[in-house]
Amino acid sequence: MAETVKITFDGQTVELPLLVGTEGEKAIDISRLRAQTGLITWDPGLANTGSCSSAITFMDGERGILRYRGIPIEELAEHSSFKETAFLLVHGVLPTRKDLNRFSVLLNDHSLVHEDMQIFYQNFPRASHPMGILSSMVNALRSFYPVLSTGEEEINITVTRLLSKVRTLAAMSYRISRGHKVVYPRPDLPYCANFLNMMFDSPVNPYVIDEDIVRALSVFWILHADHEQNCSTSAVRIVGSGRVNLYASISAGIAALWGPLHGGANQAVIEMLSMIKDQGVSIRRVLERAKDRDDPFRLMGFGHRVYRTYDPRAKIMKKMCDRVLRKFNLQDPLLNIAQELEAAALADDYFIDHNLYPNVDFYSGIVLRAIGIPTSMFTVMFAIGRLPGWIAQWKESMDDPDWRLCRPRQLYIGPKINAYVPIDERG
Ligand code: SDX
Repeated sequence: MAETVKITFDGQTVELPLLVGTEGEKAIDISRLRAQTGLITWDPGLANTGSCSSAITFMDGERGILRYRGIPIEELAEHSSFKETAFLLVHGVLPTRKDLNRFSVLLNDHSLVHEDMQIFYQNFPRASHPMGILSSMVNALRSFYPVLSTGEEEINITVTRLLSKVRTLAAMSYRISRGHKVVYPRPDLPYCANFLNMMFDSPVNPYVIDEDIVRALSVFWILHADHEQNCSTSAVRIVGSGRVNLYASISAGIAALWGPLHGGANQAVIEMLSMIKDQGVSIRRVLERAKDRDDPFRLMGFGHRVYRTYDPRAKIMKKMCDRVLRKFNLQDPLLNIAQELEAAALADDYFIDHNLYPNVDFYSGIVLRAIGIPTSMFTVMFAIGRLPGWIAQWKESMDDPDWRLCRPRQLYIGPKINAYVPIDERG
């Protein structure tokens, strides 16, 4: 007998089904609540609301667990590649060698973008933020690749086309913003190396592919690849629920990720660490400001809506900082500041009481700086990593029989009925 929850209201009692997830998490099914009671629920920020059922990613915020299709993030970071993890997220299984070879061929075949798209880039002001450009250009792909049939093969080609082209679009925005020639994708380079080459190759200073850097980028993107129903993934699902095409849904996800409370935090962390260094602000003062409710300053890269302990991705990212910096015998003063800040915050009652720990963004910028990625491109790097997750979630929602047009209700607190007053009679 399925468990239920009873709600007693206004002399009536209704029983609502209790849904149970794979890991035992429970949800009250309120899909008939208004019809049965006239009541709606109210949950600003949706912190207590499950928007869907999903088989893609599992997070346990109390225990710091993250798994893609059941595989722990630690194992994927250790053994997988970003291309393989993207396949796992989108198709639900680890690829066979034959699958992976076919996927590589498709990624290569679809890595170019229509030459006319370069004209759009020429017309963006040089200082435009690359996230705004990326969101616009991904949306523009729909004009160049309108066929989006529902057939499995067609969907696979569309998905692979986007996974491949996103690198080219991102690298183009960087090259053109610097007045440099666009570098085309190369058929002999795998996914991550191709992106680095498109970003940094130069006729006078050919980019040398370093396998350690390629590996660091692959792990960086694995760590960002999906994260259940976060803000930008929810945007992709909500926009997609109107049955708009994949490109428009992903474009909305890129826009949502841009915010400093979400994916834009990786850029904000480096700006915060640089401010501390350049202005000689003490760690104590930084924590004082972060704790002051009257001060809008927040410790960027700290805290999370779901994790109430250390973000498992941050642990891996922190180790990567040491590895990448050691590789180039680099000393990044911002890493020292970040480590000091972390130690002080984790010993501070405010952060302990609020369960505030480093999240994926706290150390990710240090890794990107060591790879040579400019700060303005940090959130674009997050977007490229998150793309397989967005696509997997979009596909899952399209195939979900329970998925409907997303249209939440509200609690109206405005004025009661009002009369229209002609302008000459207004105060
Ligand atoms: C990402 O959802 C995902 O999965 C996102 C993500 C993904 O992979 O998709 O993990 C990626 O977006 C990571 C988060 C990146 N953002 C930041 O690092 C920005 C700094 N963090 C905060 O702004 C905040 O922690 C949020 C936005 C991440 C979460 O905020 P919540 O859950 O809405 O919590 P809240 O703002 O209501 O804060 C609860 C309390 C408040 O104090 P009180 O008023 O209750 O006393 O905690 C405090 C907040 O002031 N607090 C912080 C803080 N984060 C929360 N205080 C100081 N510094 C912080 N960073």
